[in-house]
Amino acid sequence: MNTQELINTAKALMAADKGLLAMDESNPTCNKRFAKLDIPQTVEARRAYRELIVTTPGLGESISGVILYDETIRQQKKDGTPFLKVLADEGIIPGIKVDTGAKDLAAHPGEKITEGLDGLRDHLKEYFQMGARFAKWRAVIVIGDDLPSRSCLEANAHALARYAALCQEAGLVPIVEPEVLMDGGHTMERCRAVTEEVLRNVFIQLNCQRVVLEGMILKPNMVLPGLTRPPHQEVKEVGVGEQQYQVRLADRQPDEEQDINQVANITIKSLWRTVPAAVPGIAFLSGGQSAELASARLNAMNLRFKSQLPWALSFSFARAIQQPALEIWQGKEANVKAAQQALLHRARCNRAARRGEYTAVMERHSA
Ligand code: 13P
Repeated sequence: MNTQELINTAKALMAADKGLLAMDESNPTCNKRFAKLDIPQTVEARRAYRELIVTTPGLGESISGVILYDETIRQQKKDGTPFLKVLADEGIIPGIKVDTGAKDLAAHPGEKITEGLDGLRDHLKEYFQMGARFAKWRAVIVIGDDLPSRSCLEANAHALARYAALCQEAGLVPIVEPEVLMDGGHTMERCRAVTEEVLRNVFIQLNCQRVVLEGMILKPNMVLPGLTRPPHQEVKEVGVGEQQYQVRLADRQPDEEQDINQVANITIKSLWRTVPAAVPGIAFLSGGQSAELASARLNAMNLRFKSQLPWALSFSFARAIQQPALEIWQGKEANVKAAQQALLHRARCNRAARRGEYTAVMERHSA
C-alpha cells in the first residue's frame, strides 16, 4: 500500500471546493428511475444517459470525482471514446461502486446487510488497473420501533471496515457510506442518536481493521427527521454547545430557514462527536432530499461552521445532482443540452455550498 498516494487522492477529491457526483446506480435502480419517466430500460439508454453526464461541458470545474458502476466504467461514448478518457480529459477522478447491494439480514426482519466482500480483492485490482482511484460501499441502516439492532450496526460496520482495508491495499481511497435512511416517521432526535451510534461503530471497526483514516472519505447522511414525520411534532435545535438542545415546536411547522439551520447545527454536532479529525473529508449523500434543500443545508453547515471543522465538508450526491437533468432529458436526444445545463447548474450550486456562498438567487437565475 502506498499510503501517501491514498492521502493525495483523498485530498484531490476534496480540493478546490469541488465534490463528487455519484452516477453509480445499479442497473435495477437506474431502470426504476427511467421507468418513472417512461425512458426505455435498456443498456443503450443507460449508456446514452451516462454519456450525457460525463460529456457535460465544464463539469470538472465543480466535480472532482465521479462514482461509476461496473457497467458504466466499461462503456464508451457513441463515437467510441471510453468514458474513462472523457473524465480524464476533464480532470475528473474516476471511482467505482464495489458493493453488490444491501440484502436482508438473516434473522433480522426489516434490516439489511451489504454484500460484496467475496472476490473483492480481485475486483479492486482490476478497477485500479482500469484507472479507478477510489471506491464506494454503501451500508443501509433502517430506523424503526426497535431498529436498528446492535447486530445490524456491528455487521454493517464490520463489512465497511473490511471493504475499506481491501481498498487501501489495492491503492483505492475508500468512500465509507453508512446511510441512515430517511424513510419512516422518526424524529430528528432519533435520527441523530442512530447516526451517532452508527458512526461510532464504523470508526471502531475502521480502526480495528487498520484503515488509514487520512486516506479515506466518509459519506454519511445529514441528520433529518423521518420523511413521514408530521411537521407539528418536529423538534428544534436551540444552539450548539448548549446542554439542552431540543425543544418542541408547539403545533407549528418550522419555516425553511429554521429547518436548514437546525439540520446544519445537529448534523455538525453529531459529526464533531463521532468523526476523528484525521479524516480528510466528509461528503454527504442526498438521500432523497430535494436538490435545493440538499444544497441549502450543505451551505448552512459550511457558512456557519467551516472555520471550526477539521475535515472538508463536501457532497457526493446522486439524486440531488442528477434528478433535474434526468427529468429534462426524458430519453430524448433533443433534450441533451438542456439536461446538461441543469446538471452543471446543480454541480455549481453545490460547489458554492462548499464555500457557504449558495443562495436561493442562484436558483432563480437558472430558471
Ligand atoms: P443519493 O445522493 O441519491 O442519496 O445517492 C448517493 C449515493 O451514492 C447512494 O449510494
